Amino acid sequence: MLTSRRVAILGMGTMGSALAHGLGASQARPKSMVGTVRHGERLEELAAQFDFDVSTDNPGAARDADIVLVCTKPHRVAPVMVELAQSGALDGDPLVVSIAAGLATKKIEEAAGRPIRLVRAMPNTPALIREGMTVVSPGSRATDEDLDVAEELFRPLGRVLRLDEEHMDTVTGLAASGPAFVYVMIEALSEGGVMMGLPRKIAVELAAQMMQGAARMVLETGEHPASLKDQVTTPAGCTISALLSLEDGRIRSVLARGVQEAARAAAALG
Ligand SMILES: NC(=O)c1ccc[n+]([C@@H]2O[C@H](COP(=O)([O-])OP(=O)(O)OC[C@H]3O[C@@H](n4cnc5c(N)ncnc54)[C@H](OP(=O)(O)O)[C@@H]3O)[C@@H](O)[C@H]2O)c1
Repeated sequence: MLTSRRVAILGMGTMGSALAHGLGASQARPKSMVGTVRHGERLEELAAQFDFDVSTDNPGAARDADIVLVCTKPHRVAPVMVELAQSGALDGDPLVVSIAAGLATKKIEEAAGRPIRLVRAMPNTPALIREGMTVVSPGSRATDEDLDVAEELFRPLGRVLRLDEEHMDTVTGLAASGPAFVYVMIEALSEGGVMMGLPRKIAVELAAQMMQGAARMVLETGEHPASLKDQVTTPAGCTISALLSLEDGRIRSVLARGVQEAARAAAALG
């Protein structure tokens, strides 16, 4: 049970803070949480946001943790693992969870220089409001029980799936970078509304709620998106007219290639 586990979040930046906020607001809040950052100047600001200790002391935070959630930028994960291993902070064999894009479990295990129970996870920023999408994959020593624990950690923050690690860069390109693509779409759709005379605030609300509703239709009906699209598309109507114009702009390949490019860039990070 997550409520009986102590969680250390190393790297309370955008993603570490989003996960901490989401976990803090959940009913399955961990038994305790601590966090760290690199720069002491941010501690005051973080102390005002969180009701748990945030410091610059990674070994101190990780030493008593059951789960060490590493949320630093990918290039800082290996030095953090070295620091933890050399200080003895991993002696209690906590479950280590890395959310770093592009960084293979093998590299993190090598950096630790000792056997660790490691799970690689790829969450996204909507975890902040507990509408996230997280995929988890096991490292070489992670057991099914470790994956269960990792799922428990992310389930209060949204949906969770298990996949083989070979898919993680694609997951990153689609589900972790994806919110940025969707924000651009919401902005662009609302600009269309503004162009046609809607107040901007209303146009943004219409676009965002419409997108949420359409996304939930896909998830909750289980119908193929093409079939749901057909239901909106009346013969000789306004929707088919607009869809053909979007196809002229190659909307499908632009979006699909965006995911492909993000996945390629994620792989290069490691
Ligand atoms: N942003 C996303 O949407 C997203 C989604 C999925 C996964 N990720 C992954 O999440 C990780 C963090 O991304 P981010 O966007 O949250 O980056 P970020 O905002 O730059 O946060 C990184 C945090 O790590 C801290 N840090 C750096 N070195 C550290 C150290 N040695 N010990 C402790 N803390 C340290 C930084 O501290 P200071 O604040 O003091 O500099 C900062 O708070 C990345 O690996 C990324 O691939 C991000």
